[in-house]
Amino acid sequence: MNHISKENLDLLFKYALEAKETSYSPYSKFRVGAALLTKDGTWYKGCNVENASYGAAICAERTAYCKAISEGHREFIALAVSTDQDDFVSPCGICRQFISEFGPGSLPVYLLNTKGEFKLITLSELLPLSFSLEQGQKFLIK
Ligand code: THU
Repeated sequence: MNHISKENLDLLFKYALEAKETSYSPYSKFRVGAALLTKDGTWYKGCNVENASYGAAICAERTAYCKAISEGHREFIALAVSTDQDDFVSPCGICRQFISEFGPGSLPVYLLNTKGEFKLITLSELLPLSFSLEQGQKFLIK
């Protein structure tokens, strides 16, 4: 797992909490914020953005990833996710697959609750046996 300095960990948590404040979630009222640190030290925040056509909603994690990827980043150091829940909330299945596209499996994912606690889990633990492009290509040529 990547080593993250205390300074970066504090920023990661701060940005994940800040990102939640911009959540657009009038339908679910379930605010989610995500913070993403890229390999070159750039930070991205993301929130969930809902829609009157419910299925058009995008999760906070994917918002952060899309912001980073569309700015040219492909390698990531750490992700944090915050909600308004006392319990830890982990990324949905679509986000797990989306995040696993970029990896690494050892990516640390910090889940934050409202008590100021965090749970640390790796991407591989969130999505074991993930479907990847390499496997996909093998499927295609068989
Ligand atoms: N949501 C996220 O932003 N991330 C997740 O990993 C789980 C769900 C959002 C989607 C929707 O806006 C709200 O939470 C309720 O599902």
